[in-house]
Amino acid sequence: MSDTEWLKLEERTIKAEKEAQQIEYELDRIATGDLSFVGNPELDKLLSENEKLKHRLAILENAIKFESSKSNATKKPKETPKLITDIKSINDSICIVDELKNIFSIAVSSAYPDLEDPPVVITLSGNNPKFGDYQCNSAMPICNLLKAKNIKTNPREVANNILNKVPSSPFVAKVEVAGAGFLNIYLNREIAEHVLNLILKSGVKPPPVKRQRIVVDFSAPNIAKEMHVGHLRSTIIGDSIARVLEFLNHDVLRINHLGDWGTQFGMLIAHLQDKFPNYKTVSPPIADLQAFYKESKKRFDEDEQFKKRAYSCVVKLQSGEPDYTKAWNLICEVSYREFQKIYDRLDIKIINRGESFYQERMNVVVKEFKEKGLLEEDEGRLIMWVNPETREGIPLTVVKSDGGYTYDTSDLATIKQRVEEEKADRFIYVVDSGQSNHFVLIDGCARRAGILTGDKKVEFVGFGVVLGEDKKKFKTRSGDTIKLLELLDEGLKRSLDKLKEKGRDQVLTSEELKKAQEAISYGCIKYADLSHNRINDYVFSFDKMLDDKGNTAVYLLYALTRIRSIARNAQISESELQSYAQKSSIKLEHDAEWKLGKVLLRFPEVILKVVNDLFLHSLCEYLYEITTVFTEFYDKCYCIEKDKSGNIVKIYHERLMLCEATARVMEKCFYLLGIKTVSKM
Ligand code: ARG
Repeated sequence: MSDTEWLKLEERTIKAEKEAQQIEYELDRIATGDLSFVGNPELDKLLSENEKLKHRLAILENAIKFESSKSNATKKPKETPKLITDIKSINDSICIVDELKNIFSIAVSSAYPDLEDPPVVITLSGNNPKFGDYQCNSAMPICNLLKAKNIKTNPREVANNILNKVPSSPFVAKVEVAGAGFLNIYLNREIAEHVLNLILKSGVKPPPVKRQRIVVDFSAPNIAKEMHVGHLRSTIIGDSIARVLEFLNHDVLRINHLGDWGTQFGMLIAHLQDKFPNYKTVSPPIADLQAFYKESKKRFDEDEQFKKRAYSCVVKLQSGEPDYTKAWNLICEVSYREFQKIYDRLDIKIINRGESFYQERMNVVVKEFKEKGLLEEDEGRLIMWVNPETREGIPLTVVKSDGGYTYDTSDLATIKQRVEEEKADRFIYVVDSGQSNHFVLIDGCARRAGILTGDKKVEFVGFGVVLGEDKKKFKTRSGDTIKLLELLDEGLKRSLDKLKEKGRDQVLTSEELKKAQEAISYGCIKYADLSHNRINDYVFSFDKMLDDKGNTAVYLLYALTRIRSIARNAQISESELQSYAQKSSIKLEHDAEWKLGKVLLRFPEVILKVVNDLFLHSLCEYLYEITTVFTEFYDKCYCIEKDKSGNIVKIYHERLMLCEATARVMEKCFYLLGIKTVSKM
């Protein structure tokens, strides 16, 4: 089963579980005497849905079990996880759900020592406090496994057996069996308080993971061509992925795999020689490289003589003749400068390492592949199949009939360089979904050639196309492709309009206003992109992304400034706030405080999920969830009490500290999404 199939199966299971839980919840309400459902025509439907879902759930869980038993066949036996026994020993960021998994895997294996690698599934319990904070849903799949061994039992019995073996842990206040065999887990509030106090003392820290070297290949526009909205998506998504990985302390190589090599350089160089004959001494003032490209293309298409010269320029460039290399460099530099303007505005760090970097390495790859007999002749070309026996799909073209190399050759040399020279552990490519097949072939052929071994693989982070509000390909009104710098300028203009509309230009200093304008416009563009599942196409709409209600960067940035202003309103200075934070003792007594605390506690879990599946919308959803739960808390719990004339009568310092912890987690999320925050807007 492939990773995507796995992911899908897992997603379906989680969905089915959620639906089943919802129905359990409705049924539970009825059982506890809440009869508002009776007589409701929905009830019958729900009951039969419930049966169907349970059935589906069992099938899915079995499939998962079957697949994981296959992939585990070669793995060594699992060690018993080491549990945390003392709250005070926690001084790092901690992933609650992982600890719960450890606790319950111990319980499950001591209740059922004969089962090989039984599934331990821990999920969040959803909104009803009656179902605890987390749930362990292992009883049903285990029951099925037992039935398959002819052992008669039922999920409730299994759940009770697991319950009896749950080891004591400072994380768990209590566990209960509910419904058809769910194990409801109630977290210990002290753990949450301790972890939040740690955040106040030493900031939002990453969960500890084994450090890896990771290549993130992103942005990658092509020289002399326009950087388009597809590259913008790659830039935004790639940067955020790199930020999350860097936060976890990985050694990240941010690589801009520029399209800077290929036959188009022949005509560009030939045209440069004609237009700026003294280019070797005076830097040519090419203002508009696109226009320059168009001119040379026109000559190339119409003038046979020029075409011949262009071809000979390519040969000279590829053989490394200095004048030609110089001309090529000059052209590349014009493009670099243009691209850099965009990176600077969006605060993106990236290393330029284009296809040209691999020229010599491509020779090596071709030689090596020939020697190993991996290449096959096909009408003058040299091709490579992932599987030469089945010849399924399409092959890579490694050498063209004229002896030249292709995009395929360059990506083969690239993966080899990343494995052998960079000695990287992960290879991430953020490229539009249209190229997914190319990367499947690169992975397959690199594996066949012995470059990729074991669990090293091409991790393709694909994304859909950008659409205009008319749901058609994103174009200007006149039908031209959108220039990125113009797009960013429009964002700036619109966000300023928005701020003025709200009269913010009257309250903020001009410097504050500028900061807010930039944070909003670039933040909105990034957030709109990152908050959607990247696989889908996405509709670019300034109106939607600049809306101050709903899941947008504006809304979230406002929410953060509001939280930040609470302490200011209590006339607590920044330094006082920091010294409170050092000796803070957050208490999560009120239900709304507890709910907020639990959400903040999930930060490591969310981050670990992102580095695993490389989907950033879950981080956005989390940020949005923090704001909604915070609002609920702020509605219900006083942080400052004032009398009728507005004088402060009481300050709840512990709650202010909870606000502070919330703000810090939110700020970290914004940072990881590449969005700048402001203290006023
Ligand atoms: N330059 C390519 C394009 O514009 C993207 C390159 C992606 N990276 C890679 N290693 N192929 O489509």
